[in-house]
Amino acid sequence: MRKLILGFTVGIVAVLLGTFVYVRFGFADPRADIPVGTLEAKVAMPSLDAAVDKRAPEVHDPLQPSEDNLLAGIKIYQANCASCHGDIQHPQGMLANALYPRAPQFVQDAPDMPENQNFYIIQHGIRFSGMPAWKEALSENEIWQVTTFLSHMDKLPPNVSMEWKNAAGGTTGQPPTSGAPGQKGHTAMKM
Ligand code: HEC
Repeated sequence: MRKLILGFTVGIVAVLLGTFVYVRFGFADPRADIPVGTLEAKVAMPSLDAAVDKRAPEVHDPLQPSEDNLLAGIKIYQANCASCHGDIQHPQGMLANALYPRAPQFVQDAPDMPENQNFYIIQHGIRFSGMPAWKEALSENEIWQVTTFLSHMDKLPPNVSMEWKNAAGGTTGQPPTSGAPGQKGHTAMKM
């Protein structure tokens, strides 16, 4: 029995030491633009979902998805989120392939998490990723506005959708697939 415990302990210490050496002595690739491994993607997303599910308070969105609130949400989204998460004119955000882990592209894959979880993530950000904690920059009301917009993004009333198109076009002043100079990086990242 003692031998078994000793073997176990030695094994664990070896793994920890190996991981430390791997990271500390530069074997871990620091680049953000390398492909995300399938195993990593499979493990990381459900872990994040589970962690948020555990922590996000069971609060209800105090706002109605009124036109005013959706438009306010769009304004906040275009100014702060679209470059990483994409928008109606640029379904692949400018930084879509520039982050590790990648930012989900919401126009291609609408955010389907409960609103209290989206609110929590937007407030607190996600550690070890490019997702910032927005409570440093946005008020609680603004965070609810953008949360409300996110959960209605794929079912916007036509006039709100039109407003979004205008706002998104205005952000870069470029149509989505123009490939015009100045948009080079953006176009190049579309695969
Ligand atoms: C600098 C890039 C960047 C910006 C700007 C940014 N995000 Fe993120 N966001 C990310 C990344 C990267 C992830 C994925 C993190 C992960 O998978 O661990 C993420 C994840 C999320 C998620 C969780 C999605 C899911 O399905 O798990 C939500 C919701 C979100 N962001 C909303 C926003 C909102 C709203 C804004 C603007 C107020 C914003 N983000 C701005 C990079 C960004």
